[in-house]
Amino acid sequence: MKIAVIGAGHVGLVTGACFAELGHDVICVDHDKKKLQVLKGGNIPFYEPGLDKLVYTNHIEGRLSFSGDTIGAVLASQIIFICVSTPSRKTGEVDMSAVKKTASQIAKALNGYKLVVEKSTVPVETGEWILKTLNKQAPKGVRFDVASNPEFLREGAAIHDFIHPDRIIIGVSSQRAASELVQLYSPLNAPILITDIKSAELIKHASNSFLATKISFANMLANLCEKTGADVVKVAKGIGLDKRIGEDFLKAGIGYGGSCFPKDMSAFIHIGKKSGCNFKLLEEVRNINTERRAHFIKRIEKALEDPPTPMLHRSKQAGFAGKTIAVWGLSFKPETDDIREAPAIYIIEELLKRKVKNIRAFDPKTMDNMKKIFPSIIYVNSPYEAIKGADALLILTEWKDFRNPDLLKIKSLLKRPIIADGRNLYDPNKMKRMGFKYIPVGRG
Ligand code: UDX
Repeated sequence: MKIAVIGAGHVGLVTGACFAELGHDVICVDHDKKKLQVLKGGNIPFYEPGLDKLVYTNHIEGRLSFSGDTIGAVLASQIIFICVSTPSRKTGEVDMSAVKKTASQIAKALNGYKLVVEKSTVPVETGEWILKTLNKQAPKGVRFDVASNPEFLREGAAIHDFIHPDRIIIGVSSQRAASELVQLYSPLNAPILITDIKSAELIKHASNSFLATKISFANMLANLCEKTGADVVKVAKGIGLDKRIGEDFLKAGIGYGGSCFPKDMSAFIHIGKKSGCNFKLLEEVRNINTERRAHFIKRIEKALEDPPTPMLHRSKQAGFAGKTIAVWGLSFKPETDDIREAPAIYIIEELLKRKVKNIRAFDPKTMDNMKKIFPSIIYVNSPYEAIKGADALLILTEWKDFRNPDLLKIKSLLKRPIIADGRNLYDPNKMKRMGFKYIPVGRG
């Protein structure tokens, strides 16, 4: 099949490379000339495990090409996937300008039957809008269909999630569109659910919002565990063993980030409220997530306070002021170089506001991206380099590198044995026995 993928970002590039791997002829289109140069040079503009090899092989073998010309790519293809970015406006509403621009360009290139598929996460009724736009702007008499085929790709596991999806959602309004997409996806041997277009659009927003709700539920429990002395890791395990609940997405920590959950939650809340529905549940999910960072900082500030001394002797530099803080992990999750909405951004901003003297940060993949936001903090080449002389260590992302460190070495390098673990990597009892002031999330 000849396929055009419009937008070569985290979704479009994975989609294009995987369809090429399945044997299709794919043209990936992007308007970013720098990104196209990187792709044509056999590289990829962001880190996604395995994607560089997949793109390179399919590009070299001629199944995957890159272009800046949407109209040319559409003219040459039978199925067109719209994978352009749909960022959040300040109101939470989705910025549809890229989708609208792409739909108008596609309309100009409809020279025979084509199937136009929206894969970007879009508000419900977008498919209807694309249909109207194509009807208005396409050459008279030309036939086409529009479909919704939302993606469920996790950054860091995107190729796996494309090749082994839990389900494929196909939202269509014609039998022909349904059979084309079923034929395209059947090699994956995954459950395929065919719905109308609007239901398919809602499934994506609802899916991400539900996962975010699970995370905030776990974080709400963590607060109670800290007050009552219970252990949220054990509580989450206990409820997750109920198959109706499931153990995934119940890890308490410093909250969710990334390019999807925050954006999709805001979009879904906006859609719900605009439709006159009560979406207060999701507003609270978002509030709990935002509060995580402030709560985490407050607990560290308390640990950094000098031992309680009479006011007149208390050091002027209580809390973070004048301190050196080590930070492990900057990305919003492991196995990605993506820092969009990463909790680390908010936490570093707060430390700087609190007049911290130095921040020494290490992250296996994300430091170049973070330097663009925080050029003044110190970036080091190893986790142990970061903690040399630090008053405390903050763990913000659960990279594999941080899971089994040499705790004795950490203790010898830290000025004060304080570790604030935003991702609950270590055993609190062991940390206590080793003399650390260990601050996990929700663990008694
Ligand atoms: C998500 C959805 O999982 C995916 O289906 C959708 O297509 C895109 O959005 P992604 O944003 O890449 O994928 O990351 P995900 O693994 O879902 O994690 C999102 C955030 O939740 C991360 O910041 C992660 O640290 C956090 N998280 C996840 C928790 O805090 N606790 C958990 O138990 C799981």
